[in-house]
Amino acid sequence: MARKKIALIGAGNIGGSMAHLCLLKGLGDVVLFDVIEGLPQGKALDLSHAGPVEGFDGNVIGTNRYDDIAAADVCIVTAGIARKPGMSRDDLLGTNAKIMSSVAEGIKKHAPDSFVIVVTNPLDAMVTLTQRLTGFPKNRVVGQSGILDSSRYRSFIARELNVSVNSVAAMVLGGHGDDMVPIRSTCLVGGVPVEKLIPAKRLDEIEARVRNAGGEVVALLKTGSAYFSPASAAIRMAEAYLFDKKEILPCAAMLEGEYGVNGYYFCVPVIIGAGGVEKIIDINLSANDKKAFDESLNHVKDTVQAMNRVLGVS
Ligand code: APR
Repeated sequence: MARKKIALIGAGNIGGSMAHLCLLKGLGDVVLFDVIEGLPQGKALDLSHAGPVEGFDGNVIGTNRYDDIAAADVCIVTAGIARKPGMSRDDLLGTNAKIMSSVAEGIKKHAPDSFVIVVTNPLDAMVTLTQRLTGFPKNRVVGQSGILDSSRYRSFIARELNVSVNSVAAMVLGGHGDDMVPIRSTCLVGGVPVEKLIPAKRLDEIEARVRNAGGEVVALLKTGSAYFSPASAAIRMAEAYLFDKKEILPCAAMLEGEYGVNGYYFCVPVIIGAGGVEKIIDINLSANDKKAFDESLNHVKDTVQAMNRVLGVS
């Protein structure tokens, strides 16, 4: 069986980390694409030198030409600018919307059958634009948001209780912004509801930290935003697709009636398998969660409208 081909559009911090993960996990051959000459080629050469040490055989090339992503099975998009201290994800909108337009064109032309995972922020708007411009069916265009947000929640809870992260399940849904919605009722520690283990007031503080976790990293790094954890989250989605895992993962998917939302990408639990986003899982939200979910949706709608204005689309 031929190796799978994974195209990483954007060879910056997240792109480079994802390339490393793809090779270490043996997911297939990797193409690192970027507009900066030398950057993807240099990272690819460096990564190839790790092969004999780690024992991976996957090929990795760096390129500035879209021809090289031809027939990719998966495209993961991180092209664009990242946040600096003081910036919200929405501040990236104008620049990244223009970049995504050229990226969507390249993917549509050269990897028309690929499964596309968008990571570029503001996520919910960028994944909407990618689906619109590629014209790919909604099951083949998805956004990475909830796996990372949920992972942050799980990591803080695991530290709080001094238990393994593997013993903590949790889902964060909604938009990938500061008003994302940690769903407390989904947070189970060894199967026990977290509310039985941590006082409500402390959980409020932890959830506030989850919402601001990306900003906390940006404030510390000063020169960019989180990249190890977004890379892991996006690769988890690629694995679910490539290995037909049918895994339930919180991802930004196009909703057409589910959760009462129509025509917007929004993070909800979905099943990812060989068919891409195979199913949207409708879970019952409490009245409070639904309120927060709707507020987050209004924010996403505003961002998509702002994007449409930037692009001159009515
Ligand atoms: N085509 C391809 N790559 C591009 C393009 C383009 N048109 N324009 C910019 N890039 C590249 C940049 O040259 C850079 O190498 O995208 C890369 C982005 O890398 P970083 O600046 O290191 O950003 P990163 O941390 O990887 O984040 C990328 O993901 O999580 C989001 O908010 C984050 O929007 C940001 C994106």
